[in-house]
Amino acid sequence: MAFVTSKEMFAKALKSDYAVGAFNVNNMEIIQGIVDAAKAEDAPLILQVSAGARKYARPAYLLKLVEAAILDTGLDICLHLDHGEDFEICKKCVDDGFTSVMIDGSKYPFEENIALTKQVVEYAHAKGVVVEAELGKLAGIEDNIKVDARSATFTDPDEAAEFVERTGVDSLAIAIGTSHGAYKFKGDPYLDFERLEKISKLLPNTPLVLHGASTVLPEFVALCNKYGGNIPGAKGVPEDMIRTAAKYGVCKVNIDTDLRLAMTAEIRRYLVEHPEDFDPRKYLGPARSAIQAMVQHKIKNVLGSSGKR
Ligand code: G3H
Ligand code: 13P
Ligand code: ZN
Repeated sequence: MAFVTSKEMFAKALKSDYAVGAFNVNNMEIIQGIVDAAKAEDAPLILQVSAGARKYARPAYLLKLVEAAILDTGLDICLHLDHGEDFEICKKCVDDGFTSVMIDGSKYPFEENIALTKQVVEYAHAKGVVVEAELGKLAGIEDNIKVDARSATFTDPDEAAEFVERTGVDSLAIAIGTSHGAYKFKGDPYLDFERLEKISKLLPNTPLVLHGASTVLPEFVALCNKYGGNIPGAKGVPEDMIRTAAKYGVCKVNIDTDLRLAMTAEIRRYLVEHPEDFDPRKYLGPARSAIQAMVQHKIKNVLGSSGKR
């Protein structure tokens, strides 16, 4: 039981067409729900922390909570920085003991993205830390529909091959139609699997990463709306599309929105049904259980990583 990199997890996943869940964390109940699920399913696990999560929970708390999770469960956990925006934050996380960092240079032109990624790779590799980079821009709901806009924002397969070769990055996040948050598609969900297949053929040994991969489970959206929430029209990536992506080289599937929805739905429900309660443990406990059940479902029925630890 230790902090581990994702190297072995991805090598195994790449061979067997399943994906490792990478779950965003920012407090104790979320961490406990996820690690209890991974333990129950005997699944490999990546916990990831965004810049916003670091700011909210403060770095020392998150590090110690994940360390506590390792001690408590006996699991190996990869602790990953999600969407590091510059060299400095990646360096800080490497120095703090993260085992994986993402440098997200996707907003920069190709050559600048390469230069920034290389700088992070050099620093991180020297300390035994692995690096994820991103090429292509994740779609927003307003711009993911028009077919002619796709080639401008989605990952170009030839560029992806050149990018990996020149940066030495360990894994690559690609843009094929997903987006962050609870409103991923206006019309029918669409992912560019042809493009994904081309990328994975050109990069057969590079683990690919799917951001914005929450399913936005209808049951949680319905619960939120039933108990005072207002999130109409929320839509995510259908589960069968995630399963397909795992067959084309996607080894890491990023999930945050589904955790937020599960937690919020359960808290909303509990508070409406028990207006007399005001002990946070009363509603955070069920919220933690809802997260555990949801993550177990993902591991078992969507990612295929059950029993792969
Ligand atoms: O990629 C985005 C993740 O869901 C993290 O979101 O920046 O609000 O913590 P955040
Ligand atoms: P979701 O918003 O679909 O959960 O995506 C999370 C993510 O990509 C974190 O990097
Ligand atoms: Zn992301």
